[in-house]
Amino acid sequence: MGTEGIKLIGMDVKLLINELNKALADEWLAYYQYWVGSKIAVGVMRTSVVEELEEHAKEEKEHADMLADRIVQLGGTPVIDPTKWIALTNCGYETPSDPSTIVLLEQNIKGEQCAIRTYRKILDMVQGKDSITFNMIRKIMQDEVDHEDELEAIMDDIEKMKEQLSRS
Ligand SMILES: [Fe+2]
Ligand SMILES: [Fe+2]
Repeated sequence: MGTEGIKLIGMDVKLLINELNKALADEWLAYYQYWVGSKIAVGVMRTSVVEELEEHAKEEKEHADMLADRIVQLGGTPVIDPTKWIALTNCGYETPSDPSTIVLLEQNIKGEQCAIRTYRKILDMVQGKDSITFNMIRKIMQDEVDHEDELEAIMDDIEKMKEQLSRS
């Protein structure tokens, strides 16, 4: 990054790059979890679930783009070895070994909740120290909040459907 730009950052840049790389690993794992889930999903409300998983996969990939661009701007290198994703991740990877939509939704809701907590921590870390990263993380966190909300809304629909079926 330019010398004047780097002066704007009131914290250890290496530490910041490390946090952003950990988040980058999370995003790729989240992308894959959604993407593969959308391919194998079976069961209740499959069409809506697949649509939502595909949409989220696309947005996690956009988050990865934003994080990687900022890492490069800060003079760092985005993690170049996928085998490092598991070592770096904050939120891990839930293998969708049961492809039923309800299980996929539960796993992905857990992932989103972890993502929200992780970005909350990064926001606290950069607040007042790097406004460019702060604004970027705030935008990403907003998407993760929407993701959790959207998945929970489908879960609610499924619960209501079950109730209706049990009454009929
Ligand atoms: Fe994301
Ligand atoms: Fe998300």
